[in-house]
Amino acid sequence: MPTPTGDRVGDRVGDRAGDKTGAKPRLAAAEVALSVFDHGQAADVALETVCANMEASKDRSLVRRLVHGLMRDWPMVNAHLKTLLHTPLKPKDRLSFFILAVALSELRDGREPDHAVVHCAVEATRLAKAEHLSKLVNAILRRFLREREALEAKWLGRPVMEWGYPQWLIDALAHDWPDEWVDLLAAGNASPPLTLRVNRRHWSREQALDALSKSGMVDRPLPGLADAVMCETRAAIRDVPEFMDGGWSVQDAGAQWAIDWLELSSGQRVLDACAGPGGKAAHCLERADIDLVAVESEPDRLAQVGAGLERLSLSAELICGDATAPDQWWDGQAFDRILIDAPCSATGVIRRHPDIRWLRQPQDIDALVTTQALLLNRLWPLLKPGGILVYVTCSVLARENHQQVQRFLENHSDAKVLDPPSQDESSQGTVPGRAVSVGWQVLPGQNDWDGFYYAALGRLPSA
Ligand SMILES: C[S@@+](CC[C@H](N)C(=O)[O-])C[C@H]1O[C@@H](n2cnc3c(N)ncnc32)[C@H](O)[C@@H]1O
Repeated sequence: MPTPTGDRVGDRVGDRAGDKTGAKPRLAAAEVALSVFDHGQAADVALETVCANMEASKDRSLVRRLVHGLMRDWPMVNAHLKTLLHTPLKPKDRLSFFILAVALSELRDGREPDHAVVHCAVEATRLAKAEHLSKLVNAILRRFLREREALEAKWLGRPVMEWGYPQWLIDALAHDWPDEWVDLLAAGNASPPLTLRVNRRHWSREQALDALSKSGMVDRPLPGLADAVMCETRAAIRDVPEFMDGGWSVQDAGAQWAIDWLELSSGQRVLDACAGPGGKAAHCLERADIDLVAVESEPDRLAQVGAGLERLSLSAELICGDATAPDQWWDGQAFDRILIDAPCSATGVIRRHPDIRWLRQPQDIDALVTTQALLLNRLWPLLKPGGILVYVTCSVLARENHQQVQRFLENHSDAKVLDPPSQDESSQGTVPGRAVSVGWQVLPGQNDWDGFYYAALGRLPSA
């Protein structure tokens, strides 16, 4: 049974047979950091590879925590390393560089005793077969501990250092959200909750909550969302009762609300145009007996849609294709509902994927805005008159959100903006966010939701 509290210090530093030092998770975290910063790989993908042979789930969680911490600390840690290393390390010693970076971030975090962190880093350097650098690693970390205050004071008051984001992203957030940008930076550095979606084809939310509490987990239903449960116990997802049997999925509240905008009812033909990895496709199918076509351009992500639906005993027509080129896959039958959960900057989910801030580049936003416009323009003709298209992003940038939809409306006289989904009396006012010039924006952290943008567009009957 999972415990509601965290691990003991000894557990986290590493006291398991074979790794008395806690060096392995530190080395693993450095390997992931190297993949992110030197090879542009997403941290989740690198974590999966690096942690594949780690048996203990607490080790995997520790690696994830160290990596996420470093993503938030990167500008400061990088600046410290520039000061502390008189000569930069050679390219072949990049792994040791990242062992140092992980250790500096862990020292700044302060959760473990300083001496334990230094010891782990030295042992990790040996484990990485860089014995010749172990004395240097020890000396650098000890100097940091001696000079920490002066080193940190040098950078005080600089948002890039204080919040750990690139300048271009801080500028973009400050431009779009002049009153909220500091809150947005803070929200991206907070830890996200574990939010679950009850599969109400499998059981009711009351039965699901009952099963959670009987297994010792602390949870609460989320008002305003019919299927959501926030799990306040730190649990591995496989320990959640009936997870493997299809009773649940992991899905943030903001993602769950998207389905309410579709106003689904049985018998409808529905297109999920950007389906991978399949969270919203499954939610649609759990909600109503619909005929779902799920399109995804990445084969691996389409395979995830298939696997997810199988676990939940659901089915859909799966198409690997480019949703901006429907002539390549559309059978000519119009849809009652279209969901465009568009590829986007993911600036609303940085708290879950803190590496996004370093992997995204300003020019990526231009390319994403172009793809989003193509998706809207090319898929609109596939919607029946009287049908609804829902455009969703997990972005907080105006260009991807209300400005994008505004431009679409200027060129489509047969489209009208619909109101947000109605809520019953008991949940009135519990959905966070606000109406923007077109559609609705939830900012990350509001009611502990991820940041999402939603717009529902109704197609008017042809004249
Ligand atoms: C925000 S994610 C969708 C998340 C998904 N709806 C869910 O709830 O799990 C966007 C997806 O669109 C896919 N994508 C990007 N461009 C596409 C295109 N032109 N055609 C189809 N899928 C595309 C990406 O590979 C990615 O899987």
